[in-house]
Amino acid sequence: MPVPLLDLSRQHAPLEQRFAAAFDAVLKSGVFVLGPEVEQFEREVAHYCGVKHAIGLSSGTDALLVAMMALGIGPGDEVLCPAFSFFATASCVVRLGGTPVWVDVRPDTFNIDLEDAVRKINSSTRALVPVHLFGQACDMECIQAIADKYGLFIVEDAAQALGAKYQGQRVGSFGHFAAFSFLSHQKSGWLWRRWHVGHTVG
Ligand SMILES: Cc1ncc(COP(=O)(O)O)c(C=O)c1O
Repeated sequence: MPVPLLDLSRQHAPLEQRFAAAFDAVLKSGVFVLGPEVEQFEREVAHYCGVKHAIGLSSGTDALLVAMMALGIGPGDEVLCPAFSFFATASCVVRLGGTPVWVDVRPDTFNIDLEDAVRKINSSTRALVPVHLFGQACDMECIQAIADKYGLFIVEDAAQALGAKYQGQRVGSFGHFAAFSFLSHQKSGWLWRRWHVGHTVG
């Protein structure tokens, strides 16, 4: 019997009526971009993660891209990315002309190896992207210490980790930005900003 690569139908089945009602309400309202549903979603997600702001976007990839754009990542900038992740983690750096620098991953979690990350830092390094792979939180205490010491931005790729916690605090609430993703037939991503980075946002 063939095993499909991705089959969400069983996961969606118990929620189908709720999805259909929500889609129907949006269809009838004619408000397909932004609108009250998105505002409510942003409020609820921000509350859930314990952060001030959440922004609804089209995908987790766009959430990563927007974060990198807000930080002004571009040619000449290096961004530390784990060598094992979904390709969007690094492709958003490439799309802006920056250079993803591969950092080895730990053998126990496949999350970023922080000793190797420190070895890869140089004067062009601008940011570090911890990916909370398979819902496993990265060592955010150590990552924050490294970022503080070397003046790096942290963009958490929490696409696979909505609801995961590190030391009792939800992932996505540690970095300067974080990106989440929802695997669903209505794909959406979102981004939150922990504190104002006015000097880079401009
Ligand atoms: C680790 C990781 N980062 C980023 C993404 C990108 O999210 P999206 O597919 O919503 O663009 C994914 C998606 O699977 C992911 O697994």
